[in-house]
Amino acid sequence: MGLLALRRYVPYMRPYVFLVAVFVLSQLGGLAAAASVPKVIQYIIDGPITHGDRRGLVETAGLLLLIAGLEFVLIVARRHYAGVASLRMETDLRNDFYAHLQSLQVSFHDNWQSGQLLSRAIADISTIRRFVGFGLIWFLQIVVTFIVVLALMLQLDWELALVVVFFMLPIAVFSTIFHTKYRVIARRLQDLTGDLTTTIEEMATGVRIIKAFGRMPLMQRRFEEQASQIRTTSLAGIKARADLWTTINFLPNLSLGAVLLLGGVNVVQGRLTIGGLVAFMSYIFMLTWPMDALGWILSMSEECQTASHRLNEVLDTRPEISDRPRARTLERCTGRLEFRAVGFKYPKSDEWILRDFNLIVEPGETLGLVGRTGSGKTTLAYLVPRLYDVTEGNVLLDGVDVRDILLRSLRSHIGFAFEEPILFSASVHENLVMGRPIDSDEELKRAIDVAEAGFVWDLPWGLETRVGEQGYTLSGGQRQRLALARAVLGRPPVLVLDDPLSSVDVHTEAMIEESLARVLEGTTGLLVVHRPSTLALTDRVALVDGGTVVAIGTHHELMRSNELYRALLSQEYVEVEPYGVPAV
Ligand SMILES: Nc1ncnc2c1ncn2[C@@H]1O[C@H](COP(=O)(O)OP(=O)(O)OP(=O)(O)O)[C@@H](O)[C@H]1O
Ligand SMILES: [Mg+2]
Repeated sequence: MGLLALRRYVPYMRPYVFLVAVFVLSQLGGLAAAASVPKVIQYIIDGPITHGDRRGLVETAGLLLLIAGLEFVLIVARRHYAGVASLRMETDLRNDFYAHLQSLQVSFHDNWQSGQLLSRAIADISTIRRFVGFGLIWFLQIVVTFIVVLALMLQLDWELALVVVFFMLPIAVFSTIFHTKYRVIARRLQDLTGDLTTTIEEMATGVRIIKAFGRMPLMQRRFEEQASQIRTTSLAGIKARADLWTTINFLPNLSLGAVLLLGGVNVVQGRLTIGGLVAFMSYIFMLTWPMDALGWILSMSEECQTASHRLNEVLDTRPEISDRPRARTLERCTGRLEFRAVGFKYPKSDEWILRDFNLIVEPGETLGLVGRTGSGKTTLAYLVPRLYDVTEGNVLLDGVDVRDILLRSLRSHIGFAFEEPILFSASVHENLVMGRPIDSDEELKRAIDVAEAGFVWDLPWGLETRVGEQGYTLSGGQRQRLALARAVLGRPPVLVLDDPLSSVDVHTEAMIEESLARVLEGTTGLLVVHRPSTLALTDRVALVDGGTVVAIGTHHELMRSNELYRALLSQEYVEVEPYGVPAV
């Protein structure tokens, strides 16, 4: 049984200890009621029926009815409380899972398919809830029923009871065989479900590319293949369950035959009353439904164990980027940014993306980063708000290693705009503010003005307009401008802008640059630049190549002195002028 794997979820049950107590009491009460029925039957047969006592018969029949009523009430109570407790546990567990996912570093998410995380958050947690809410109850019920019924049988006729035990022993063997077989099936099934979720998710997010490239049949084939694998695996699971069910179900019938035979002999010899025999048979009948349910519960427990392993794979991953024990808040930040002998490799990769990287951005200075594509500019930008941590060396803000600053404090000093402007399915306002404390609407307006994102006022509901998933209802340039407004909002002392104007037209770009220049005046800016026109914003430019700074100076100095720099920027000109107009 996968009960040990459930230990982790015990704390989740703690707040609902009252519900659990009511549940356990009603379960035991219900069981006691059920187990007393054969006793009453035995009493009726051997007492009132044998002696022709009508009054006694009516009275005991009434008692039987009372017991049945009580059992009914207790079963209803048990189901209700178990359901309520397990649903609350599911919600708590899911909330914690989400919080944990958020606390994990970016590199964790680089390496995990989102479908696998989705299926864990939805399907696996539900599987655990189903087992805790139903399977576990039935399992406990079965165990207690077995113990109670066996004790009653032993008390009634120990020889017959031993016969029953003899016939039940093979259950252990069959269950073990089933356990080994089903564990593999359950794991495979849940992993396949995760893959399938990924495929659906990729289709939904990449629908434009898929359609534009006419890849629908390919995607369909991929999906159908995965769906058919799920079907085959599910079938194997059903077969394993059916095999167990047929074998296990056969056993009570066998023991019933044997008991009838041996018990009959006992009755004839006067060692057992007829009522006793009927009661004994009733006990065996009490064992038939647990047998029926056993296969189902074993498979549920196996699924729950797998689900819990899959969850643990995520929950046991410790956040690598978190606050160090002695990290502190950086109260006032002048914005001096320094990269000191920084070396960086992506986790699980052996390639140095940055090595021996030294750079200082003085407070208020705007520094441009220029380099070939793939030279590590974006990677460098990620190091500032600690989306990744350096492999060697230090990144310092105001002379303090960023790892010694509380993450919350560090990130509150940095405005960030990524290459890919990601927007959430929420209102424009929520997308801009992102839950930060914003002093006034003026500030919001100013940020929108800086980013030339005035189009938001013309949206149907203004700032309250919801932008679709990833902001698809907006154009690329509009999304980029919103992302820029988000970065400059709140006037952070450090601005890290990764090619923030790549999707806007030349005219808008000029306007944004004009207002951005004003913002950047008192701000430390790290600006990844691809277009020469953006270089007007920078005070100095660093040329990155081979993972390090190969040249640094003003744009004009580098234009004059550095061949690679000239080549990179003139290539840009060719890209900007698709008709081959010669570079100026
Ligand atoms: N998550 C990742 N895991 C492993 N390697 C990565 C990851 N992200 C980027 N890389 C690698 O790191 C190198 C630098 O990438 P980076 O995105 O920093 O380049 P860049 O200078 O920003 O390029 P571009 O000008 O095209 O934006 C590339 O070789 C890339 O393949
Ligand atoms: Mg980049």
